Amino acid sequence: MMKVSKFGKKIAATSGIGQLMDDLGNALVESQDVLMLGGGNPAHIPEVQAYFRESMVKLLDNGREFERVIGNYDPPQGNREFIKAIAALLHNEFGWEINSKNVALTNGSQSAFFILFNIFGGTFEGGTKKKILFPLAPEYIGYCDVGLGDDLFVANRPQIEHIGEHIFKYHVDFDRIDITDEIGAICVSRPTNPTGNVLTDSEIERLNVLSRANDIPLIIDSAYGVPFPSIIFVEAKPLWSENTIVCMSLSKLGLPATRTGIVIANEEVISMVSQVNAVVSLAPGSMGTAIATDLVRSGEIITLSHDVIRPFYQKKATKAVGQLFEELEGLDFYIHKPEGTFFLWIWFPELPITNEELYQRLKNRGVLVVPGHYFFPGLAEGWRHENECIRVNYAQDEQIVTAGVKIIAEEVKRAYRAA
Ligand SMILES: Cc1ncc(COP(=O)(O)O)c(C=O)c1O
Repeated sequence: MMKVSKFGKKIAATSGIGQLMDDLGNALVESQDVLMLGGGNPAHIPEVQAYFRESMVKLLDNGREFERVIGNYDPPQGNREFIKAIAALLHNEFGWEINSKNVALTNGSQSAFFILFNIFGGTFEGGTKKKILFPLAPEYIGYCDVGLGDDLFVANRPQIEHIGEHIFKYHVDFDRIDITDEIGAICVSRPTNPTGNVLTDSEIERLNVLSRANDIPLIIDSAYGVPFPSIIFVEAKPLWSENTIVCMSLSKLGLPATRTGIVIANEEVISMVSQVNAVVSLAPGSMGTAIATDLVRSGEIITLSHDVIRPFYQKKATKAVGQLFEELEGLDFYIHKPEGTFFLWIWFPELPITNEELYQRLKNRGVLVVPGHYFFPGLAEGWRHENECIRVNYAQDEQIVTAGVKIIAEEVKRAYRAA
């Protein structure tokens, strides 16, 4: 057995999520017939992919441009032309007072969270420890294991608003929020993975006021937000200010494989992110920027997101919700109001089996979902709700989603009946 550091032990340990991801991946490899409603892969939307293909063909046909792109490292901050185009786009679209010095790229936004959480959380001078606060759990599964040290996160239960018979929505419970010296940053995903929640403008404004008053950043994970990929079905005002850090990504637009994350922040933060890039990976990859720069420059990325990507997913959400309403009729179930992302978060109160058991039963029938209890990083107290929810990805082809949802309904009914 090799001897490794505490960091080595922590990062390489088999985490629940690591195991789950392995499980999902292996199930896919072992059987072609798996109905994949787990994972976070975006759909392959032909109309969107046509743009990327055209962009690639242009690159190949443009003299020695392809060789230039693949043959040079970008600066640690990321590709200059792309950064300039992003800053201009956000300034023109939202009036944000930003320029190229407020933008850095990372290898996927996942690595931005690794960098930011360990900059604003962890051990500080004098030995004090600070944490990242998730004001509303459930939150994104991918945050769980990025801490270099232990106990990097703290989270709060939400308030639950019931909207209609089978729809609910989480809200930040501001009575539970206490920004002590122990909090180094606040973070929310908006729209939220796994729930499809979109924090309201007033919730975001209040969190921003709190973070400014305490001189800590508010990190807004906009992987599904505006202006791209715009997988958001309600009106929501995008916010950026000197103390906010907005993280964006090209992944959910349809380019997860290029690993392109975008951080919008004050110059001090951008400089730190760039330094970490230099140390950890020399530079962020260039391929995503080569494919997308013209789309950003022309603003087409916004129309594509708004006119093609958003309706594509909204239609799928409506269909999946409709099917669940039909097939679960008579049962006690609640779906989080689908306001964005491509997930449905379904809550089965008093479910006689745990969501882990439901996951196993569904897996045995060839349907993969993600049991909800993985989405509560930092929430210390046991809360039954954690074991009563599942996340369903509805991005796949219609036949797959329809067949998968049917089996989910069957297994849930069976579990309630057997009790
Ligand atoms: C909320 C959220 N944030 C960040 C990410 C990370 O995406 P990427 O590293 O591909 O940019 C994901 C991916 O699933 C996500 O769902």
